[in-house]
Amino acid sequence: MNVGVLVSGSGTNLQALIDRHQRGDLMPAQLVVIGANVPDCSALSRARQAALPTFVVDHRDYPERPVFDRALVESLRSHQVDLVVLAGFNRLLGRELLDAFPGRVVNIHPALLPAFPGVRAQRQAFEAGVKIAGCTIHFVDHGVDTGPIIAQAAVPVNDDDDEEALRLRILAEEHRLLPAVVRAIAERRVVLEGRRVRVLGAAPGTEPLRSL
Ligand code: GRF
Repeated sequence: MNVGVLVSGSGTNLQALIDRHQRGDLMPAQLVVIGANVPDCSALSRARQAALPTFVVDHRDYPERPVFDRALVESLRSHQVDLVVLAGFNRLLGRELLDAFPGRVVNIHPALLPAFPGVRAQRQAFEAGVKIAGCTIHFVDHGVDTGPIIAQAAVPVNDDDDEEALRLRILAEEHRLLPAVVRAIAERRVVLEGRRVRVLGAAPGTEPLRSL
């Protein structure tokens, strides 16, 4: 399964995917292209460092979202992408892209959805005073962080945490969970049943999609 990753920022989740890919541990998923909307983001440097093909579709060149989406679709299709992974991609996607990859776009969000959707999720969780936080990987639908949930990982919120400590604890779980989900999708073990997602058993010797 050919995977295209869309990024905008530091790219630590992308790096987790690259590391697994380089170890041959993402199979049968193949990272085929990394696309960014921010031309100088660190994520792109990580992709280039790993000698992966890249493209840039700068949203500032596309004031109209459908045209921006179509440019993304064109670039992804030109690399025969089957699965689109949003790994810190900071633009909302519209119908053009979602219809081009039906049920084939996943996002990682740094909160236990449906709590704390949208921006600065870790801060929202921290300020709400929750005792358990975490991350969610979900299929992308037309809402903001509303699509069917594939996997979640929880972390404690400690009394002496600040927001940054919490962000880093969640991020470590993101790095574990995202490659495992991408691999499970490529192994066709992730089945969408209406709003619910069923993850079928892992082959012996491969790690299960542990949520806790
Ligand atoms: C992560 O926290 C991810 O959950 C969110 O954006 C952040 C991206 O971080 N969607 P990085 O670019 O992967 O380091």
